[in-house]
Amino acid sequence: MPELEPYSDRSQLWDAFKGQVFGTIPAVTAKNISDPEDRNRTIIVTGANGGLGFEAAKQFAQLGYVSKLILACRSVEKGEKAKTALLAFKPSGSKTNVEVWSLDMASTASIVAFTERAGRELSRIDAIVLNAGVDLVSYQKASQEDDSYYEMTLMVNVVGTFLLAVLMIPVLRHQSVATPRIVITGSVVQFVAKYDVLAEADHKQTGEGILRWLSEESRWNGKITEERYYLSKGIVQLLERQLAGVIAESSKSAGKSLVVVNCVCPGWCRTNLFQQSGNAGSRIALKLIGRNGDVGARALVVGAIGKEGDKASHGQLLSEGRVKKCSSWCETKQGERIGRQLWKEVSELVEKVQPGAMAEL
Ligand SMILES: NC(=O)c1ccc[n+]([C@@H]2O[C@H](COP(=O)([O-])OP(=O)(O)OC[C@H]3O[C@@H](n4cnc5c(N)ncnc54)[C@H](OP(=O)(O)O)[C@@H]3O)[C@@H](O)[C@H]2O)c1
Repeated sequence: MPELEPYSDRSQLWDAFKGQVFGTIPAVTAKNISDPEDRNRTIIVTGANGGLGFEAAKQFAQLGYVSKLILACRSVEKGEKAKTALLAFKPSGSKTNVEVWSLDMASTASIVAFTERAGRELSRIDAIVLNAGVDLVSYQKASQEDDSYYEMTLMVNVVGTFLLAVLMIPVLRHQSVATPRIVITGSVVQFVAKYDVLAEADHKQTGEGILRWLSEESRWNGKITEERYYLSKGIVQLLERQLAGVIAESSKSAGKSLVVVNCVCPGWCRTNLFQQSGNAGSRIALKLIGRNGDVGARALVVGAIGKEGDKASHGQLLSEGRVKKCSSWCETKQGERIGRQLWKEVSELVEKVQPGAMAEL
């Protein structure tokens, strides 16, 4: 088994714990929004029919700075119900136009169709909040159109998220008036991710890649239900750094406009996500120290339109609404190398799904 390069996330973990218990996330207001004159933004939120996505959508509709809001949901029926609920909260003078669009993050075809529709139908996009995510207690396959597959947590939280991010970049560049943003819902659980599983996958995979190696049922740890979820958020952080690096490079060397990519952590929140995973103790702890969804969702709003989510957050982790240090393992040589390998795998999938798309970055 390969050794993990030594690292310590103790100080980040302590900071995250203190923030969870004693801290909060400041709401976005006229004082900390970027460009307070702009009241005409278009924002897309994935997984917007429930949990943090819905709460963030509510805040976007209430703030008065967003004129079009797209609720991207895998079930249009659930999305329409969420829209009705959201409209009930919308202040009477609000000019936010809300639409429900179909998007299944477990399907590459759905992601491509969504991106094409965004390119066709939206004249302006300011931010896309890639929030949809799962925490599963049992193994599930996300089958692709070509019979290949990823394990469902990896597909939704990682592969689908970055496929959509990459495909949306040319659309965002074309349709934005200011610097557009891609907000990815990450998590401080990256500090407890078992990176040795990733190093093992990197070591043992024989050409199929880390993500496919991890996707086989025999690699699912049924005893520790959160292991895959935590790892998926560690991978998200690694890939966010890679994507941000590629964008920074192309804006420097090829003069392409910057698209800010940031990773936000809402903290530990009482949503539907952890309804099945964990044990009785963690469920009690969630009741005691968990945040309400509306507070956690502020993180997504900060990432998309807050000053803290501006250029300084590119490639970073925003926790409690501020740029914080990501897992130290992501910054080790080993973490960087495995991050590049994961990026290569995602890039190959992007090229397979949409040839030429990587050159657009
Ligand atoms: N809650 C927390 O403490 C916490 C902490 C850190 C990070 N996060 C992250 O925040 C994000 C939102 O989580 P949440 O707490 O709001 O969870 P949630 O209440 O379970 O909501 C998840 C949302 O994602 C959607 N979704 C799941 N699979 C999808 C797919 N294949 N295609 C499209 N949408 C899909 C769900 O839609 P359906 O209703 O159709 O299932 C739902 O709208 C996740 O990425 C999660 O990892 C949460």
